[in-house]
Amino acid sequence: MKILVTGGAGFIGSAVVRLAIARGHSIVNVDTLTYAACLENVASVGNAPGYAFEKADIRDRAAMDRILAAHDPDAVMHLAAESHVDRSIDGPSDFIETNVNGTFTLLEATRAFWQAKGRPADFRFHHISTDEVFGSLGPTGKFTEDTPYDPRSPYSASKAASDHLVRAWHETYGLPVVLTNCSNNYGPFHFPEKLIPVVILNALAGKPIPVYGKGENVRDWLYVEDHADALLTVLEKGPVGRSYNIGGENEARNIDIVRTICALLDEMQPAGAPHDRLITFVTDRPGHDLRYAIDPTRIRTELGWRPSVTLEEGLRRTVRWYLDNEAWWRPLQARQGVGQRLGVKA
Ligand SMILES: NC(=O)c1ccc[n+]([C@@H]2O[C@H](COP(=O)([O-])OP(=O)(O)OC[C@H]3O[C@@H](n4cnc5c(N)ncnc54)[C@H](O)[C@@H]3O)[C@@H](O)[C@H]2O)c1
Repeated sequence: MKILVTGGAGFIGSAVVRLAIARGHSIVNVDTLTYAACLENVASVGNAPGYAFEKADIRDRAAMDRILAAHDPDAVMHLAAESHVDRSIDGPSDFIETNVNGTFTLLEATRAFWQAKGRPADFRFHHISTDEVFGSLGPTGKFTEDTPYDPRSPYSASKAASDHLVRAWHETYGLPVVLTNCSNNYGPFHFPEKLIPVVILNALAGKPIPVYGKGENVRDWLYVEDHADALLTVLEKGPVGRSYNIGGENEARNIDIVRTICALLDEMQPAGAPHDRLITFVTDRPGHDLRYAIDPTRIRTELGWRPSVTLEEGLRRTVRWYLDNEAWWRPLQARQGVGQRLGVKA
């Protein structure tokens, strides 16, 4: 299959690109290369036959029209987005521009392309979204595909809006879409402003490890390569119009994730004193959702997919990867905003 992937120089998009190429698909990677992008993430497939890169912005209708016509894909996997909740608190407009207006522009370009081709039924527009659209859970319960939307941050509100647009383009114009809402990802190539890489890199540098509030927020962690596998499964097998929640079946409190990483570093890179001495509790994020948890029954029963990596194993692989790949993460720490506390204005 020839797949146009948006955001393929980011964290999850690059995992999709690498896996899809390994499975024999052709890829057109469309990315405007924001602060969060890194072409090194796809360097391993950069020279593969069947891989093409287009530096372009999804908000640019003329560019999207040109790229679709030039490459004639069988499917679009839409991952390009502004993705960092803390940045969305300080500067929501980029999130509305890319996640809402950009998705609208991409949908319109894709609809025109698909209609001009004679509306092929086997074409797919796969929209990749987050479980954060469902809001915050209390101590019990899980998100299903029927959980009402209740986004609570500018990021999750912009993603919720994009999900609604994608469903509307299916209902109104018949565009053959599938949607996925996934829990928190972690793993190799995770940009060093997100929790898990911040913990690893601050611990390695002997700097305070910031934990928001009391560290009691619970997330359902999914290893990024498992997410890429789930996304290709949904693309290949998911019926048109269907949405799937994707989770890792790995719920953990932030403080427990931080302590586990500290223990792994004590074992893999001993510092002479336990790394957890660096844990520092800081002011919580405004509107910080307490708990997210995915009920993965639909994807498991309908498509036979489940995660292959446990949290313990995934964190071990991730810590090893950061220890072995300083040349990747060191330059990214100089990018704008990285290493600073963001998202506390409210
Ligand atoms: N990271 C997570 O835990 C998680 C969980 C569930 C869903 N998601 C969703 O998955 C997708 C990818 O997330 P990620 O963590 O890889 O994000 P990321 O921030 O690492 O990567 C986003 C990529 O999109 C590109 N991009 C941004 N704006 C663009 C534009 N206007 N035009 C073209 N390209 C643009 C960036 O350059 C970057 O390469 C997002 O849609 C996100 O909402 C992420």
